[in-house]
Amino acid sequence: MRVLGISPLDKDATVSFVEDGRVVFACAEERLTRVKLQDGFPWQALQLGLEKTGWTLDSIDVVAYGFFDADEEARRMHEAYRIDGRAHRAWDTAESLREFWKAVRSAYRVDRTVLVPGLESEASEFMPRKAWYKRLVYRLAASSAWADWQAHRWAFRQWIKEAVADHRLRTRQLHDALRELGLLAKLRRFRHHDCHAANAYYASGYDRALIISLDGYGSGNCGAVFVGEYGRLRLLHEFRFPNSLGQYYEYVTSGLGFRPGRHEGKIVGLAAYGNPEVLGPALRARFVPTEDGEILMRGALNYFFTRLAAQHFAKRDVAAAYQRVLEEVVQRAALYWVQKTGLTQIAVSGGVNANVKLNQRIREVPGVTSVFVYPNMGDGGLATGAALLVFGEAAYHGTPIANVYYGPEYSERQMEEALREAGLSFERCELIEESVAELLVQNRIVGRFNGRMEYGPRALGNRSILYPAQDPDVNQWLNHQLGRTEFMPFAPAALPEFAGELFHNVSGCEKTAEFMTITFDCTQRMVRECPAAVHVDRTARPQLVNPRENPSFYRLLRAYYEKTGIPAIINTSFNMHEEPIVCSPRDAIRAFLQGRVDYLAMGPFLAAHPKLAEISRERQRPAVV
Ligand SMILES: [Fe+2]
Repeated sequence: MRVLGISPLDKDATVSFVEDGRVVFACAEERLTRVKLQDGFPWQALQLGLEKTGWTLDSIDVVAYGFFDADEEARRMHEAYRIDGRAHRAWDTAESLREFWKAVRSAYRVDRTVLVPGLESEASEFMPRKAWYKRLVYRLAASSAWADWQAHRWAFRQWIKEAVADHRLRTRQLHDALRELGLLAKLRRFRHHDCHAANAYYASGYDRALIISLDGYGSGNCGAVFVGEYGRLRLLHEFRFPNSLGQYYEYVTSGLGFRPGRHEGKIVGLAAYGNPEVLGPALRARFVPTEDGEILMRGALNYFFTRLAAQHFAKRDVAAAYQRVLEEVVQRAALYWVQKTGLTQIAVSGGVNANVKLNQRIREVPGVTSVFVYPNMGDGGLATGAALLVFGEAAYHGTPIANVYYGPEYSERQMEEALREAGLSFERCELIEESVAELLVQNRIVGRFNGRMEYGPRALGNRSILYPAQDPDVNQWLNHQLGRTEFMPFAPAALPEFAGELFHNVSGCEKTAEFMTITFDCTQRMVRECPAAVHVDRTARPQLVNPRENPSFYRLLRAYYEKTGIPAIINTSFNMHEEPIVCSPRDAIRAFLQGRVDYLAMGPFLAAHPKLAEISRERQRPAVV
C-alpha cells in the first residue's frame, strides 16, 4: 500500500511517501521554494517525490493529513473555550501576581559575570521600553487575578478567531489541490496528537513504551499521553488547550523580541546564562500543582504577563525561568505517567520536544531508562505521522528507524554541472573524507554536501558546515559570518565509540543521540578537547555518527580522529541566515559563496572558495566579530 502523507499546511508544509509502513521519500517544501517554513500546499515537494520514487498519482492509495477539517477543528476550539470557562482553578493567579510584584520591588540586578555572546551590552540585556499605553495594558492585565483571567479569556477568543480563519484557509487549499490532483476522494484525516504519537512510537522501535506529545495546538488539545504496545497505540490522557506549553514557550520567545514558532531554540540557549529563580516563584504559581499527571496553567493565554516580565527583568533571567518551569512541569507529569503505567521507555514528539534541554530532563525522570525523540518533532513531521496511522500496527517493525536521510540526492553529473556552471575550479578526490579531514586539521571551514538530504530541522552531515571544535570563539565569528545569532554553541558530530568518554548518561539514548535532539552533560575530556561545542551549563547536543547509516561521514570523523586524537567536530546546518538548509547542488554553491565558507566538499568533488586568500586574511583580524 502507498500512502502520501501531507503535513499541516499552515507552516513547514511537507510530503512523506510511505510504502508498506516505511518512509521512502520525505521533503519539506521550504527546501525547494527556499522560503523558511514554507506554508501552503507542497506542490514542488510532491512533484520531486513523484520523480524520485517513480510513484504515479493513480498508484497512491490514501492521502493522510494530521488535522480534522476546519468545521471540526473550530468545534473543538469552542468546546475547549467552554471547558476552560468552567475551570475555576484557573482563576487563581493571585499568588503568581504576588510573587511577581515582590520580584519587581526587590533589589534586582542582572548577574553579568558571564556575558552572553550577542547580548554584550547592558542595553541588549533588556527589552527596549515599550510605549506607555502598552505598559499600561500589561500592568492592568497583571493588576489582579480577575484582570489576569479576563485578559486570558480575551486572548483566547482572539486566538480562536484567527485559528478558525486559518484552518478554513488551509482546508480550502488542501481540498483544492487534492481535487486538482484527483486525490480528494482518498483523503483521510487524523487527530493531530495521534499523528505525533505515531511518529514517536513507530520510529522508536520500542516494544512497550510511554508516548508523550506536547505542542501548541492540535485538534482541541496541546498534548497527549499514550501507551504503545507491540504496535498498538492506546490513548491514556489528553492535555486540553489552552494549557499549552507550546503556546507558553511561544509567548516568551516573542516577549523577548524573537520570532515565535521559529526562534524557540534561542531561548533554550539563552536560558542557560540566567537565574531561573528571579521569576521562578511567580511562574511556578501559574501552574496548578497537580498530582494526577495533568498539566493545568492559570491564565495561560494572558501573554501580557510575559511582556510585562520582559519589561522588568533581563532577557536571560526571563528565559531561564520559563525554561526551568517548563522542565519542572513536564517532569512532574511524566513521573506520574511512568509510575502509573510502570513503563520505563518514553518516546516523545511535538513542537515542545524540539527543546533539547527538556528532553534531557525527561531522561532524568526517576524510573526512566530510555528516551527517544522523533527527529522531525514539529508539525512538518506529521506528513509521516499521519501516513503511519493508515498502516497502524503494520507500521510497527520492532526496530528503530535507521536514519532520516529521506530527501533527494543528486548524481555526480548534476553536481559537476552545477560546479562548472558556477565557474568554480574543483578537483575530484579519490578519498574525499580524508581530504576534508586534512582541511579541518588546518582549521578550514568546510561545507559538506553528500547523499540524501535530511528530513527534519537538523543537518546530520549531508548538508552540513564542519569545523574543528577546539576554538570556543568560533561560535561568534562563524555565526556572524553566516548571518546568525545563536546563544547555544554549535553541536558536535562525534564518533559513537567515544560517546561514554565525552558525555554522561548516554545509555538509553544512543539512538536519539544520532539526531541532535537531546543534550547531555559533558565530561572533562569533552570540555577540554571540544570547548566550542560545550554550552555554558556544560551540556552539548551531539550527533553520534552511526557508521552503518552514514559511512562517509563516519569515515571523515575517523580520519580526523586519526590525525588529531579528537573524536568530535562541530556540525552546523549548511545555510545562510534565516534560509532553509540547502537542498540542491546550486543551493549549496550559493550558500558556500555567500557564506564565505573556505571549501565545498560536494560528493567526490572539492572546491576552494574563489576568494579564499582574502577570507583567510579577514579571519585573522579580530575585528571581524
Ligand atoms: Fe503539532
